[in-house]
Amino acid sequence: MKFFIDTANLDQIREAQALGILDGVTTNPSLMAKEGITGQENILKHYVDICNIVEGDVSAEVISTDFEGMIKEGEALAALHPQIVVKIPMIKDGVKACKYFSEKGIKTNVTLIFSAGQALLAAKAGATYMSPFIGRLDDISTDGLNLISEIRLIYDNYGFDTQILAASVRHTMHIMDCAKIGADVMTGPLSAIEGLLKHPLTDIGLAKFLADYNKGN
Ligand code: E4P
Repeated sequence: MKFFIDTANLDQIREAQALGILDGVTTNPSLMAKEGITGQENILKHYVDICNIVEGDVSAEVISTDFEGMIKEGEALAALHPQIVVKIPMIKDGVKACKYFSEKGIKTNVTLIFSAGQALLAAKAGATYMSPFIGRLDDISTDGLNLISEIRLIYDNYGFDTQILAASVRHTMHIMDCAKIGADVMTGPLSAIEGLLKHPLTDIGLAKFLADYNKGN
């Protein structure tokens, strides 16, 4: 299972990278704005800064909603750095753009997936990754994890190569449940990843080992 961090915050990306378990980064226009990164030039520079911190794939989202615009933007993003994955919205022109990029060998991440039907289309269009938003489904009392299970079943039925990138992960149990279902990738905040570390018996056990060691010294 690949671990991506879902942020545009360079300090958090550095921290996750230093942990040695990071496989990539996802961003979106809202995450960029949250870090105060605005304007095309600054946004493009920020993507390159992120690529220079991590070794894996970095999703960079197009803001065009028409085919020609997405192609122009996506090609410019892909030319920025070999680690860039072009992130495309799940709309009609997005499906066409995904097919275009997949034929050109440019990696894609089809985003804003909320149904198994959308996931099937993304795979048919040759997406590298597709991002079902589990937290946003949970927010409206719909089971986000159930969507991951449905997509896993469909992709396995036909041997699709498209990777299920569980997105909108909000907490540590989302990561564990996605791992059990078999999501290929999860993207979430650093806090959710660090939650995997925690167990009180680890802390108690370590304190006892150190105390016992110090008795003899
Ligand atoms: C990732 O690609 C998405 O942009 C992100 O996970 C959305 O998360 P949110 O629902 O917490 O905003």
